[in-house]
Amino acid sequence: MSNKKWIINNAYPSVTDLRNKAKRKIPKFAFEYLDGGCNEDVNLIKNTTDIRAIELLPSYLSKHQGSTMQTELFGHTYDAPFGIAPVGLQGLMWPNTPEILAKAAFDHNIPFILSTVTTSSIERISEITEGKAWFQLYHPAENKLRDDIINRAAAAACPVLVILCDVPTFGFRPRDIRNGLAMPPKMSLSNILQILRKPEWAYKTLVHGQPNFETLKPYMPKNLDLKQLGKFMDQTFSGRLNEEKIKPIRDMWKGKLVLKGVATEMDVEKAIRLGLDGIIVSNHGGRQLDAGESTIKPLTRIAAKYGDQIKVMMDSGLRSGPDIARTMASGAAFTFLGRSFMYGVAALGSKGGDHTISLLKTELQQVMEQICCEEVADFPNHLNTL
Ligand SMILES: Cc1cc2nc3c(=O)[nH]c(=O)nc-3n(C[C@H](O)[C@H](O)[C@H](O)COP(=O)(O)O)c2cc1C
Repeated sequence: MSNKKWIINNAYPSVTDLRNKAKRKIPKFAFEYLDGGCNEDVNLIKNTTDIRAIELLPSYLSKHQGSTMQTELFGHTYDAPFGIAPVGLQGLMWPNTPEILAKAAFDHNIPFILSTVTTSSIERISEITEGKAWFQLYHPAENKLRDDIINRAAAAACPVLVILCDVPTFGFRPRDIRNGLAMPPKMSLSNILQILRKPEWAYKTLVHGQPNFETLKPYMPKNLDLKQLGKFMDQTFSGRLNEEKIKPIRDMWKGKLVLKGVATEMDVEKAIRLGLDGIIVSNHGGRQLDAGESTIKPLTRIAAKYGDQIKVMMDSGLRSGPDIARTMASGAAFTFLGRSFMYGVAALGSKGGDHTISLLKTELQQVMEQICCEEVADFPNHLNTL
């Protein structure tokens, strides 16, 4: 039996419990921004159900020497094969969310990826994580801004730069449109009423002050209203990535370079040709292309075909330790989760990061011991292919 124990809050022993609590605690427009997918949520739902169709085979009569979740990735040994995916506007869900999650990731020795459009800066997060946090770059329309942000990430000692290819255009998200959070955003009477119904959120947000895009602050005109902000973001970023845009980034960035949002073999081959170090097979958590594949399908094909040429990681749809185990068994070298950690902080505030990581570690360790998987590289040997 294992002696590994992480302390969890027994009232929330699953991500579903955290999600339910988050829903009760934060205003509807903020919860729906976090929780929803695009269009009819088809891909959002498939992401999880398709992962859960995967089965693992236990080896009950094998000798078990102990199980370790330690995973080597880009020259660092992490304590678990999962990390925190980049999420924008985190301070809308709870004040200081990026700081809370970055600190918890640092304490648990797992990677935290900071989004360009979240509410803390590269420099602050680098300080909290002693230079261990990764940075995700939304592609700026102008090269000067691109170079400036990349230089800041390098100066902050970020080991990994993540570039994003699955937001060539804004996703069509009916909830955000109804709530006035689409581009350009607007604050409606209904949103104000929703805030008044969540006094703890309102108080904490008021005390903390309005969330800002801290990494982008030096480039933004002061005192923008929501409509002007929408216009600024629209003009400043041009999400459509291509090989010509990736080449100069590869030349400039001396650390590891990862392409996130990969969904096809064709794009993996381009990433390999461009000299990238890794890819994250992802559909943005079902927020961009409702008619696309769930991520576990391309992950399985891509890991089998290219796993020895480039690090093949995955996110989208994972909500538990067993989901991480199923994804690793399908060939992923590493996994990331987005919403699960956000539900944790929205539900439990400053304790949410630590609790969610502890919960996922506890669940994953249990699966490994249950099936007699001693190290993460052994997961594929437990995949039910029958
Ligand atoms: C509210 C929200 C905001 C997001 N913002 C970003 C972002 O700024 N940059 C990015 O690369 N991905 C962003 N993503 C996608 C996540 O990085 C990740 O791909 C996704 O959440 C994984 O799916 P999961 O939530 O099912 O775990 C966002 C996801 C959510 C839910």
